[in-house]
Amino acid sequence: MKTTEIKIVVHEFENIDELPVNDQNLLKEARRITGQAYAPYSGFHVGAAVLLGNGTIVTGNNQENSAYPSGLCAERVALFYANANFPESAVKTIAISAAKNGVLVSEPVKPCGDCRQALAETEVRFETPIRIILDGHNSIMVLNGVESLLPLSFSKKAL
Ligand code: THU
Repeated sequence: MKTTEIKIVVHEFENIDELPVNDQNLLKEARRITGQAYAPYSGFHVGAAVLLGNGTIVTGNNQENSAYPSGLCAERVALFYANANFPESAVKTIAISAAKNGVLVSEPVKPCGDCRQALAETEVRFETPIRIILDGHNSIMVLNGVESLLPLSFSKKAL
């Protein structure tokens, strides 16, 4: 038997002012679009802002549905819009924010498994690591690639 330890690296910041200015701007966009989420069933509002290689920022938020599984998370709304409209532009960074009752969540919001898989696909597609910014009132986490969110992921390399 062989045991391997897989390390993930998480950078933590106490507040938005500590981030580089580009990240601050992206996170502000994620916070802004959180306020426009359609989440009447969960009351959990999520916003995502994606920075592309061409400098464009694309935003999205969660879109719920009375038939619950028909809804979609903020991350994939933003990511799929970006990939649909800018298929030549790599995704460089995604900032994710969330609010309950209009108040920013305390701990950094963590993307669901499906969104992690969609992020992994985009990273492989453009052969560019995606930086991930997870927003929270008590701390903001920054990861330098999807590998730190989804180690041992499935990808086209396996097909
Ligand atoms: N949600 C997101 O939009 N992103 C996440 O990373 C986690 C969950 C949404 C889905 C649903 O509309 C609501 O939050 C509660 O799960």
